[in-house]
Amino acid sequence: MQLYINGKWVGEAEATVPFRDRGFQLGESLFETIRVNGGHPFRVQKHMERMQSGMDTIQLDAPTSLEQIPGLVDEYIERNKIVDSLVRIMITRGTSAPGAEPAIYISSRELPPVDSWPVKVVFLEEKNYPILRFHPAIKSGNYLGNMLAKRDAEQVGAFEPVFINPEGYITECAIRNVFFIKNGTLYTPSLELGVLPGVIRDTIMELARKRGLQVEESFIRAERVDAMDEAFISSTGVGVLPIFWDGFQSNYDISQELRNDLTDVFEAGERNVT
Ligand SMILES: Cc1ncc(COP(=O)(O)O)c(C=O)c1O
Repeated sequence: MQLYINGKWVGEAEATVPFRDRGFQLGESLFETIRVNGGHPFRVQKHMERMQSGMDTIQLDAPTSLEQIPGLVDEYIERNKIVDSLVRIMITRGTSAPGAEPAIYISSRELPPVDSWPVKVVFLEEKNYPILRFHPAIKSGNYLGNMLAKRDAEQVGAFEPVFINPEGYITECAIRNVFFIKNGTLYTPSLELGVLPGVIRDTIMELARKRGLQVEESFIRAERVDAMDEAFISSTGVGVLPIFWDGFQSNYDISQELRNDLTDVFEAGERNVT
């Protein structure tokens, strides 16, 4: 595997981060995970828009670096003969040296295997974890709270945690968005809550509207979830993944249709959307 380490293509063994990189030392970084199916990166420009928004928020000024990323992703896929994978781009503020430029890192990993579903989730209180919530949300290198909650969820046999914020509203998972379906309406937490505008979240809302479902981005109180008809989580890695929690049962009819629709879109190799 050849990785891209700030201007150079290197093998895994030579892939190192400069010790003084502020992304490594202080978490001053942003990242994107792009899905590749059949050698085609999915909705690259949506990832770039989200990264640009994050760069504006953390005042990381690297417009030319950002422009070169889609081409670098293509080159990464080509060099490594990637077919189905998750390509990870990371941009950091670089070192503290005078005149130092932001640094770009590109790597990849396998798509996570999802052997069966629905998968179990647990509801966890955000106040117990150091989670960064900001609107618009940024995909920064500060995932400590998300990872701690994921560990806690896994320790009780769950695949993912679903967070409840201090006001009692559902927000998102540690590394995924969450959706509910009730009487033919698709509900997902509003971006105003500081949840990440997932590329797959957007795609699912689009596919749901095409199916004639009503879509609501709203404030969902935690007490409402038990009365929902269906529920699923979403991300670049898992697509649509139906969920359950203690006491919840569903036939997942609409979730399955959306999962199939999304698989079709992935297989179509859609690079950009208008
Ligand atoms: C906190 C969080 N929410 C949601 C998502 C899903 O985003 P996407 O659909 O772009 O993969 C992610 C992805 O990493 C995430 O980290």
